[in-house]
This record gives sequence, C-alpha cells and structure tokens, in this order.
Amino acid sequence: MLRDWSDVYSIGIAEIDEQHRGFFEAAHRLYEDILDREGRNAVVEAITFMRDYANRHFETEEAFMREHDYPGLKDHLRQHAAFFRRLDELENDLMIFGPSQDLADRALDITQDWLIDHIADEDMLYSLHVKTGDARVTI
Ligand SMILES: [Fe+2]
Repeated sequence: MLRDWSDVYSIGIAEIDEQHRGFFEAAHRLYEDILDREGRNAVVEAITFMRDYANRHFETEEAFMREHDYPGLKDHLRQHAAFFRRLDELENDLMIFGPSQDLADRALDITQDWLIDHIADEDMLYSLHVKTGDARVTI
C-alpha cells in the first residue's frame, strides 16, 4: 500500500526528514513505473533514480553519524548495504520476468516499507544519540 509521508516518521532532523520524504517519492515512482509496464527502460530508469537517491541520502546519514561519533555506525552501514543488495535482486528479477503486480509489490516492500521500519528501528537511534549526547546540533 502506498503511504504518504507523515510527521510520525520524523526523526527531528530537518535535512534527514526532507530526504526521507524524497525517498518515499522515489519509492512511489518506482512502484508506479513498474505497474505502468511501459517497458524495461522506464523500470531501469526508476530503479536507477531510486538507487542514486538512496546513495545520496545514505551518504548524508553516514557523514552525519561519523561527525557525531555514533557508536552504531557499523551496524547501520550494513543495513544500507543490504538495501542495495535487495534492490539489485529486484532489478535482476525485473529484467528476467518483466514487470508485474508481484514485483511492484516487492519493490514497495523493499523501498517504502523498508524505509518506514528502518526509520523507526535505526535512524531514530542516531537521532537520539545526537539529541542527547551532542549539543552542537540544533534540532
Ligand atoms: Fe539509515
């Protein structure tokens, strides 16, 4: 199910929240482009857009965590790497089987739904670390 961005997903850091909102949009674009079935090029473009967006976003987060000596950085990096692995697998399957409702649902699962869980389980932790342990950040 497509979900709109909502403030319940906010981690209280404006730049990251804004990027998470864009991540939702990239996830929705991917889902819709798979369903539109306008050929592989459109799907490859949407996946490439999603991958580039995630790359830029994760770089922002990772720099932020390093800057604040976040102790959970290593685990967090693993989560980001796993995201790209799942996206690669999806792209492979789309190339082999072509677009379908099943693959559109899986795309939403590994992007939008993954992000919702990732925000709650992982991003909140570094936000909390920064808020409670580092007064240099204005939230
Ligand atoms: Fe993250």
